[in-house]
Amino acid sequence: MNLDIEKNSITPVITKDGTFTMHSSLFDECYHSVTDGALSESLQKHIIPAFSLLPELEEINILDICFGLGYNTLATLYYIKKEKIDKKINIFSPEIDKALIESLKDFEYPKEFEEFKDIILKLVEDKRYKDDKISIELYIGDARDMLKQLIEKEIKIDIVYQDAFSPKKNPTLWTQEYFADIKALSKKHTIITTYSSATPVRMGMYINGFNIYKSPSLDVRVGTIASLSELPLESVDMEHKIKVNPNAKALRDSN
Ligand SMILES: C[S@@+](CC[C@H](N)C(=O)[O-])C[C@H]1O[C@@H](n2cnc3c(N)ncnc32)[C@H](O)[C@@H]1O
Repeated sequence: MNLDIEKNSITPVITKDGTFTMHSSLFDECYHSVTDGALSESLQKHIIPAFSLLPELEEINILDICFGLGYNTLATLYYIKKEKIDKKINIFSPEIDKALIESLKDFEYPKEFEEFKDIILKLVEDKRYKDDKISIELYIGDARDMLKQLIEKEIKIDIVYQDAFSPKKNPTLWTQEYFADIKALSKKHTIITTYSSATPVRMGMYINGFNIYKSPSLDVRVGTIASLSELPLESVDMEHKIKVNPNAKALRDSN
């Protein structure tokens, strides 16, 4: 898909929990669910389930697909500080929209992110941030290319925040081939979190060997958690879906 990303323009939108998201003119979607709330969605659908399900690790590699307004990365910093999680965290995050990243220095973030203002400014300026515990690397370009580079470097990921725009608007980041690359980056315990509960999305993961679960969040709409290992969550019976619905098929790069 050819994206004329330079034509994208963004408009602020207030969400249910009082935090701001943006609307993208190019994708004609908001960067977060307006009805769930931007910060609530980030914490409830991605950060809390991922950290709750992860086994004890000394160092955690996170793939944040895609950076957008940076909520998932910043909510991770907020959460590990709040929960006193004293681990080395490395975040890798692609983002195709360079102008969006530059605009973030003026974005009205929730008060929970106030203490990370310097990190945001450093990311806007240098596209990377590093201290003793935290490393954040932005990749300005297509996420598909970033995945190939991470595979080549033999980097393994523990958590994937799968947070592209919807499969309809952003199809290349939801295909069977895309999830094959995610699998190549995964370990047995890797946790994928996403807001999408669409059958073609779940099929793309399932065909690649991931177990599919309903996300446990109480306050936000049900999404999906996927992992190569078995998790203590309500599983989705994909074999039944395939049996009763001949159209239960993954999205493919070819279409
Ligand atoms: C739903 S938003 C992400 C919201 C973000 N996770 C947050 O918490 O603020 C989707 C993002 O994916 C980016 N994007 C879309 N297609 C992309 C691609 N092929 N490669 C990299 N970024 C892409 C868009 O520019 C947009 O910023």
